[in-house]
Amino acid sequence: MTNDSNRLRIAIQKSGRLSRDSEKLLSQLGIRFVLRDNRLIAHAENLPIDILRVRDDDIPALVMDGIVDLGIVGQNVLEECELERQADSLPASYRELQALGFGKCRLSLAVPEDESFASATELNGKIIATSYPRLLGRYLAGFNTSFRNCQLNGSVEVAPRAGLADAICDLVSTGATLEANGLKEVEVIYRSQATLIARERPFEPAKQQLIDTLMTRLKGVLSARE
Ligand code: PRP
Ligand code: ZN
Ligand code: MG
Repeated sequence: MTNDSNRLRIAIQKSGRLSRDSEKLLSQLGIRFVLRDNRLIAHAENLPIDILRVRDDDIPALVMDGIVDLGIVGQNVLEECELERQADSLPASYRELQALGFGKCRLSLAVPEDESFASATELNGKIIATSYPRLLGRYLAGFNTSFRNCQLNGSVEVAPRAGLADAICDLVSTGATLEANGLKEVEVIYRSQATLIARERPFEPAKQQLIDTLMTRLKGVLSARE
């Protein structure tokens, strides 16, 4: 990109579950910025910081590739991406600086309401629709169970009714989506929340100093919430 690499780049989700809390947190850290709907980047007014607003699924790779310095992302998306990149021999390292306490959700297995379910081993050889095949694979491997992957990056909850899959593995927060689609949650496989991550490569002193300042403020913000 441009020659402004002396500015700290922070990636956040543009629109979705984490957006509003991410924006609010950056404000609480004393970063002043104005977001415009059609703009990818917002330049902070009072600090050498640029805020990038992207798809949440793109945030881990941006940090792992060192394109941005910091990112706020769900642990589920982060770990799925990490497993995928490790399998593909791509850079997959990052530093997790601080779990943020918002965006809490769980990744769960769900089956049609009227079906019995006793254990994950029953899913052996079944087709499971999910956006998180690697987290699911890791979990089921612990039960010596394998599954056939129906990769969907949206509308996962309609897959069983549409005859595409036997079960799903998707994010659950209130449970309303499952209920509306005649599914029941049978096993939680992963608990997630938003987290702040940094690129692996060390920062130049001025950037590191800015990050240290932000981290001190963050500790204050988080302890004031308790
Ligand atoms: C998740 C999930 C469900 C919904 C569940 O999508 O895929 O659609 O939230 O929430 P509920 O239990 O409160 O009904 P989300 O919009 O968070 O993420 P995505 O856009 O990345 O799929
Ligand atoms: Zn997403
Ligand atoms: Mg969704």
